[in-house]
Amino acid sequence: MKRILVTGGLGFIGSHTVVELQAAGMEVVVIDNLSNSDVKVLDGIEKISGIRPQFEKLELRDKLAVQDYFNRTKVDGIIHFAASKAVGESVENPLLYYENNINTLVYLLQECNKHHIDHFIFSSSCTVYGQPDVLPINEDAPVKQAVSPYGNTKQISEEIIFDTCNATKVQSIALRYFNPIGAHSSTEIGELPIGTPQNLVPFITQTAAGLREELSVFGDDYPTKDGSCIRDYIHVVDLARAHVVAMKRLLQGNNETSYEMFNLGTGRGSSVLEVVHAFEKVSGVKLNYKIVGRRPGDVISVYADTSKANEVLGWKTEMSMEDALASAWQWEKKLRGIA
Ligand code: WQD
Repeated sequence: MKRILVTGGLGFIGSHTVVELQAAGMEVVVIDNLSNSDVKVLDGIEKISGIRPQFEKLELRDKLAVQDYFNRTKVDGIIHFAASKAVGESVENPLLYYENNINTLVYLLQECNKHHIDHFIFSSSCTVYGQPDVLPINEDAPVKQAVSPYGNTKQISEEIIFDTCNATKVQSIALRYFNPIGAHSSTEIGELPIGTPQNLVPFITQTAAGLREELSVFGDDYPTKDGSCIRDYIHVVDLARAHVVAMKRLLQGNNETSYEMFNLGTGRGSSVLEVVHAFEKVSGVKLNYKIVGRRPGDVISVYADTSKANEVLGWKTEMSMEDALASAWQWEKKLRGIA
């Protein structure tokens, strides 16, 4: 049985990926610093899969702790989620993002090289594209100046991995996520933002649940169909399943080059206001929202050309944005004890 380390494995995408890896018959070990996750997520994972992954709280910014961990933990592959990921926050606190997203990647790759862990899946992002000139965006698009420090950390990270794969035996796949939303159908795991949600959908569900007074829509004066920003909202379970496919590709040696990257999106763009109205439709809840000013760091419109992942990985999304919104609402209602 292959043993896979999932960093940030108690986080939103990480926990959903742990469950899918277990379903695929892999042993999963998890490290997380619990800065944006809760150790109770382990209970949810166990309730779904019947298997409680081995977990260790670990601060990846602590190089000695990382070295110690790998001296006593043998794994066949790593899926690296652990990072800070809020676009708006990165504009306000760039150094937090450069330290937490870059230093930790270097320490992990040093351990991969030292311990011959040659299969490395990286959690990248569509924010590496900046504001694309052409949409939908494909993996060959020219990398443009990132619009936020968060996006810049992902661009830099991909370059670090590319150079590492050229110089060592490490083989890697970068998965460029678009906007992950939703929750596992069991409602045992889902998005658990600590404090005020930075992302759109958890803010919507918390508003609908009465935890937030109203949603602020960050701008309706963009050059888009209804003036609000456009994104590609992908169900987190579809996204998680792509990680299993990518890890199997590396473990079986089916990758064509030492460093590959794939867009993980639905291929459809939806505006903020379209998401709001779709949520109202699937939940039956009228959402309280107001239009406010633009948020620094936002791109106007981005959505995926998914043909490479469809054709090369043999992966495609199976659930719609509406399915994801409905699952997010079911999860929120369970969290708050709403019938
Ligand atoms: C979406 C839209 C906001 C909150 C995310 C992840 C990032 C990366 C890309 C994976 C924007 C608007 C938001 C609110 C709003 N994914 N919005 N009111 O910025 O696209 O980035 O996807 O790596 O990690 O964070 O997502 O949900 O913050 O914003 O109007 O209260 O919703 O302006 O147009 P974003 P988001």
